[in-house]
Amino acid sequence: MPLPVDVIVVGAGNRGENYSDYAVIYPDRMRVVGIADPRDFARKKLQARHKVPDQNTFNDWHCIAEREKFADAVLICTPDRLHKDPAVALAKKGYHVLLEKPMAVTEEDCTEIVETCIQSGVMLTVCHVLRYDPVIHKIKVLIDSRVIGDVIHIQHFEPVGFYHFAHSFVRGNWRNEAESSFALLAKSCHDLDLIHHWAGERRCVKVSSFGSLSHFIKENKPANAANRCLDCPVEGDCAYSAKKIYLDRVKRGEVGWPVSVICKNSVPDIESVTEALTTGPYGRCVYECDNDVCSNQVVTMEFEGGLTAAFTMVAFTEEICKRRTSIYGSKGELSYDGHEIKVFDFLTNRTTKHTADMRVPGNFGKGGHGSADYHLIDSFIAAVMNKDPTLIRSGPKETLASHKLVFAAERARLENRVMFCGNPCDGESR
Ligand SMILES: NC(=O)c1ccc[n+]([C@@H]2O[C@H](COP(=O)([O-])OP(=O)(O)OC[C@H]3O[C@@H](n4cnc5c(N)ncnc54)[C@H](O)[C@@H]3O)[C@@H](O)[C@H]2O)c1
Repeated sequence: MPLPVDVIVVGAGNRGENYSDYAVIYPDRMRVVGIADPRDFARKKLQARHKVPDQNTFNDWHCIAEREKFADAVLICTPDRLHKDPAVALAKKGYHVLLEKPMAVTEEDCTEIVETCIQSGVMLTVCHVLRYDPVIHKIKVLIDSRVIGDVIHIQHFEPVGFYHFAHSFVRGNWRNEAESSFALLAKSCHDLDLIHHWAGERRCVKVSSFGSLSHFIKENKPANAANRCLDCPVEGDCAYSAKKIYLDRVKRGEVGWPVSVICKNSVPDIESVTEALTTGPYGRCVYECDNDVCSNQVVTMEFEGGLTAAFTMVAFTEEICKRRTSIYGSKGELSYDGHEIKVFDFLTNRTTKHTADMRVPGNFGKGGHGSADYHLIDSFIAAVMNKDPTLIRSGPKETLASHKLVFAAERARLENRVMFCGNPCDGESR
């Protein structure tokens, strides 16, 4: 019997806690033996759950880099701008790395992470969780089986969700590019990664993009609105009211996301949520925040062989992150509505439906994308346990290539031009 994989959680927030639950379900496959996080509440909560000895808990990831290696792998779940330094330092120490997306916020840093992992001989999984979603994975299997023939066009849509956008990209952690990253990288690197994955061997050769921040700007603040929703006389007419998004939910006993992430140092209840909305970022008027990231963006791409792809991300939707996809091939059309896949065959005029088993063991996945998160950590642990990087679907090279595509698309938007991509999509322009 192989020994369980010992991991250190770097960043014990929402994502770090989520992946760590794998050790609770499968203690014979994974053990959490170290934790680094400056927040006492988060660190101690995870320490108690996994019975981690005091000497293996730290306020900062640097302490792990300074110690002798004491685990097999690290789960790096720190904020976006804190990915590259721990990833490079800990890969150099010989830890296998599970790294949250985006890999890093510049192309150079992404490249350095990949080169370091390759040179250090460690495995890297980037948390492109959608590749591990059982139904979405089936799209790739169907494309590769050629049921729709040659892929000619891909259309992919990401509805962010109106209150999700207000929570994460207007008031929250990903609102401001200088503090985190641009929206296409923070939110939609998953989507360009999928398009890149579905295109297979064909490289992206041209990319353009348009997008902007709409609506959530000072000019749209209603007359008489206060700077905080709890003081606001017109809050009742505002769909983005923090009272509606957080306080009304906790009053109904709904303490999962997004309520669960706004009380940084306590469990969410009426008192702590009221306090968070009175003093913290999530109680701010959505028209009075320091947000600057796009609320709507489109990307168009041409791949080798004439395959075209169009991607749209928009904040103003009822659905939250339930992607929709249509893929048009020479023999048929594939569509995905966020639940199931339909394939229409041009020869037989028949439609076949495809689903997958989305169940996961235990209570896993309350922190995110349920089944996809589960299969991602399961693959990483299996890869480390069996010393088999082929079990990783989002490894260094393919992830770097799709991140490069994201950087090229954003450059196209900012510079208002078509980017002609070299090898692969390195963002030359003409
Ligand atoms: N794969 C996905 O679909 C997905 C979904 C959501 C978030 N993310 C990404 O995951 C990462 C974490 O997001 P989150 O929602 O868990 O954020 P979070 O704020 O809940 O957690 C981040 C944690 O990192 C800790 N931290 C900060 N500085 C540190 C340091 N020097 N050393 C160790 N820990 C430190 C923070 O205290 C915090 O607890 C982000 O990069 C985010 O973009 C990915």
